Amino acid sequence: MTTDIIKNISKSPVTGKEYEIPLSLNDKKGIDDFLALNSGKKVVVVQGLGFVGSVMGLVVANALTEEYAVIGIDLPTPQSYWKIRSINEGVFPVIASDPKIEQYYQSALRKKNYYATYDNYAYSKADVIVVDINLDVQKKSDANKDPEDYHVDLMPFKKAIEAIGNNCKEDVLVLVETTVPPGTSQKIVRPILEECLQKRGLSTDKLKVGHSYERVMPGPKYIDSIQNFYRVFAGTDDKSADAVEKFLRTVIKTDEYPLTRLGNTNATEMAKVLENSFRAMNIAFMVEWSRFAEEAAVDIYEVVNAIRMRPTHKNIMLPGLGVGGYCLTKDPLLASWARMNLFGSGEKLGQSEKGVHINDKMPLYAFEYLQSQYNGPLEGKKILLLGVSYLNDVGDTRYTPVEGFYDQLEIEGCDITLHDPHVKYWEEKDIWVSQNLDELLDNGYDIVVITTGHKDYRNNESLINKIVNLPALFFYDTIGVLTNEEIQKLSKKHTVKVIGRGDL
Ligand SMILES: NC(=O)c1ccc[n+]([C@@H]2O[C@H](COP(=O)([O-])OP(=O)(O)OC[C@H]3O[C@@H](n4cnc5c(N)ncnc54)[C@H](O)[C@@H]3O)[C@@H](O)[C@H]2O)c1
Repeated sequence: MTTDIIKNISKSPVTGKEYEIPLSLNDKKGIDDFLALNSGKKVVVVQGLGFVGSVMGLVVANALTEEYAVIGIDLPTPQSYWKIRSINEGVFPVIASDPKIEQYYQSALRKKNYYATYDNYAYSKADVIVVDINLDVQKKSDANKDPEDYHVDLMPFKKAIEAIGNNCKEDVLVLVETTVPPGTSQKIVRPILEECLQKRGLSTDKLKVGHSYERVMPGPKYIDSIQNFYRVFAGTDDKSADAVEKFLRTVIKTDEYPLTRLGNTNATEMAKVLENSFRAMNIAFMVEWSRFAEEAAVDIYEVVNAIRMRPTHKNIMLPGLGVGGYCLTKDPLLASWARMNLFGSGEKLGQSEKGVHINDKMPLYAFEYLQSQYNGPLEGKKILLLGVSYLNDVGDTRYTPVEGFYDQLEIEGCDITLHDPHVKYWEEKDIWVSQNLDELLDNGYDIVVITTGHKDYRNNESLINKIVNLPALFFYDTIGVLTNEEIQKLSKKHTVKVIGRGDL
C-alpha cells in the first residue's frame, strides 16, 4: 500500500514540492492549446528533459533566426514527472550558476513558447525531434572487481525511438543528441523509425535522421556551451545531414562557431565517445603519478603546472577525489561495447575500459589515504564534507565520486555532515544537504574534507580565517583547491593533507 503511494509521487529536488502522477496520460488538450498560441511556428519536440534536454529546449525556444514552438517530453515516472510540472509552473528544473538559464527561461515564459508534457501525441506535431534521453551503462562491478563486468541495455532507448516512430510525421527530422554507441543512428534508430512508418502505411522517403552530440557543460557557461560552441554533426544520408545543418544554424551561433560536418553518423558517434574517453584516460593516467608523488615527497600540482607551460601539454590533468558525472564514467564503455556488439569485433577497447576502472577506484583510494594519514580510528569521528556534486559549481550529483567516499566513511561509522552550495537534496542518497557553511562550522568537527572544488571553497579568505579559529582538526583537501599560503595558515593549528602532495 505504502509503496503504491510512493510510486505515484514525484518530488522536485529543486523545490521539495511533491506531485501526484496522473493515471491518464492524455494531454492532447494541453498540447493543442499550446500550439494554438504558437500557430505558424515550426514545432520542435525535445525528448528527455534532463540536464541536456531541458536546457537544449530553452536554447531552441530562444533560437537565433527562427521562432519555434518547443515541446519538451519526458516520462511520467517518480524520477522525472516533476520536471514536466516544474517547467509549466515557472520553476526551471535545473539549478545552475549560469544567469542566462533564468534569462532564457523568463524569455520563454513571456513568449509562451516552451511547454512540457508526458503525452506521445506531441511527436505527431513535430517538424524536428531532438533526442536527449539517457542511455545508461549498467556497471555490475564495484571498484574492486573486473571492469569488463558491465552491460549496455539498449531496450529503453529503442522504446523511446519507437514512441517517436509510432507517432511522428513522415517528413520529420529526428536529431539524436544522446551519447550512443557508435553505429546506433544507422543500425538502430533509422531502421526502427522506418519500420514504424511502414507499419503505419507511411512513406520512409522523406524521413531524416541525423546525429549531433552535445558538449554541454552544466556550470557557469551552461547556455553558451550549447549555443556559442563548436558542433559536430552528420546525417544517415545527405538529405538528413542537410536538414540537421539547417536546423543547427538557427539555434547555434555558427558564424563564430562553425559547424563540422562528418561523413556519416558512425563518425560523429565515435567522435563523442572518443572525446570523452580521451579525457577519462588523461585522468586515469594521473592517478598512479599522484601516488608516486605522495611516496616521493613531491607536490604533483607544482609538477603538472610546470609541464603545462609547454603548449603541447596544456591539458594534462590534475589529481582529485575521482571522476563523476554521467559521461566520463560510461562513454569509454559504450564505445568498447559498440566495437564488440555493433561491429562484431573480437576486440574491446581495452585501455579505455581500464581507464574507467582506475577512475572508479579513486574515491576508495582517497578514503584509504585519509585512513593512513589520520592519527587514530575514524569510527565515531565528526566529519564535514564540503561538496557533494561531481564537478565544481554545478548541482549534478550523478555518479559523484563523493558517494564512494561517503559510503566508506559511513561503513567506518563516522558522523557525516554535508555542505554544498549547489545541491539542496542529494537524490541518489535521499539526503538533504546544508547550504549554510557559517552555521555548520560552529558545530565542531574532527575532520573537514574538501570533496568538490566549488568556487565557494577556493581563495575564500573568510572561510580559511574561520577554520583557522576552530579547535585543532584534520583538514583534508582531495581536490587541490588550497593555495600554499592557505596551507601554511591552516597548518599553524591544524593537520593539513592534500591528495597528490607528498611534500606536506
Ligand atoms: N549531462 C551532461 O553534461 C551531458 C553532456 C553531454 C552529453 N550528454 C549526454 O546527453 C544525454 C542526456 O543526458 P542528461 O544528462 O540530460 O541525462 P538525464 O538523465 O539528466 O536526462 C535524461 C532524461 O530523459 C528522460 N527520458 C528517458 N527515456 C525517455 C523517453 N522514452 N521519453 C521521454 N523522456 C525520456 C529521463 O526521464 C530524463 O529526464 C546522455 O546521452 C548524455 O550522455 C550529457
